[in-house]
Amino acid sequence: MDFQFNDEQRMAIDAARRFAAEKLAPAAAEHDEKAEVNLKALKELGELGYLGMTVPEEYGGSDMGAVAYAGAMVEFSKADAGVAVGVSVQNSLVNDAILHFGTEKQKKEYLPKLASGEWIGCFSLTEAGAGSDPASMKTTALRDGDGFVLNGTKNFTTNGGIADVIIVFTRYAEKGNSAFLLKKDASGFSVGKHENKMGIRSSSTTEMVFTGCRLPSDAVLGEEGKGLKVALATLDGGRIGIAGQAVGIAEAALDESLRYSKERVQFGKPISEFEVLQFMLADMATDVELAKTMLFKVAWMKDSGQKRFTKESAMLKLFASEMAHRVCHKAVQIHGGYGFMKDYKVERLYRDQRITEIYEGTSEIQRFVIARSILGA
Ligand code: CAA
Repeated sequence: MDFQFNDEQRMAIDAARRFAAEKLAPAAAEHDEKAEVNLKALKELGELGYLGMTVPEEYGGSDMGAVAYAGAMVEFSKADAGVAVGVSVQNSLVNDAILHFGTEKQKKEYLPKLASGEWIGCFSLTEAGAGSDPASMKTTALRDGDGFVLNGTKNFTTNGGIADVIIVFTRYAEKGNSAFLLKKDASGFSVGKHENKMGIRSSSTTEMVFTGCRLPSDAVLGEEGKGLKVALATLDGGRIGIAGQAVGIAEAALDESLRYSKERVQFGKPISEFEVLQFMLADMATDVELAKTMLFKVAWMKDSGQKRFTKESAMLKLFASEMAHRVCHKAVQIHGGYGFMKDYKVERLYRDQRITEIYEGTSEIQRFVIARSILGA
């Protein structure tokens, strides 16, 4: 076993750390406060190759791989978890879905522009009445001549308001689901409500509205009638990105807590000298380390071409997100009253962490996926 990054992975992660410190961290609190998307940073990340990390060079990607991607997600999330989720959606949910399920024509048309950041993509699966159970979706695709007409409303779509490209999941009138790939100027498509969120406020989350939206037959992504499979297989990779986000948020909360506990003096000495604090910090550091090890293991499984890592990515996302919950909770506690104030970064980290236990499958869904796998059900 080799626990070292190779030179390319190390360079990609180090450069991500520098970018996060120089370009994301200084603006993060303001973007959070104003609920503004840092589109400029996302575009720059595209130019640097971070929006096409698993896309082969022949389709315009930087092909840095899943391990480098996971490490970059940690670094971006330490500075601005809202920008980081935009990176995750583009790499894991949009590019990977097109790469694995797209036709050659779709790959050539979409991947170069997505990998360079010229286009931003989104993955529109959830609906008001279909969250954990996407199979119950109501958005329909009806055959119309040699194409399709889509009707329905998706919600909670990350990157929705900034997306140039949309992957949308629909049901057929009869049965089965299909994924479709479309551009934002498709007739009958519009962006609906922009959500006002608790955390990751520098990301865009919107409704996506399809009203008689006409698409040609070659807009189908993957096998017709097998859209759910496209969604669920793609989410296996997506959960690596969200776990990276959780690890980054937790690591930032740990860093803030280490610094603050050495500076804050109570009862005549820095609070880091109290055993009760030391035990909290030790538990936080151990939690982060364990999740990070698991993160790179599952990313390595993806890089090494393993066909299914459904159980492992569910375990990873479950552990990393709940770990980040524990760590952020302790970080606010260590900061005391200051941790409750917006002047301190842990307040934002605490809010940003919460969604990692919910999107790309709640913790309850991850437990269901794991149980189904280990029971052979
Ligand atoms: N890889 C490949 N294929 C898979 C798969 C996987 N991981 N999981 C399921 N499939 C296949 C199945 O074999 C099946 O194929 P066939 O039709 O050929 O038999 C098909 O996909 C349907 O699978 P299931 O019958 O298992 O589907 P289900 O309805 O029982 O799934 C579930 C249950 C696992 C709970 C699933 O619904 C699930 O994961 N729910 C959570 C949804 C979710 O994560 N939503 C996130 C929204 S996107 C998001 O959050 C993005 C964002 O904002 C950042």
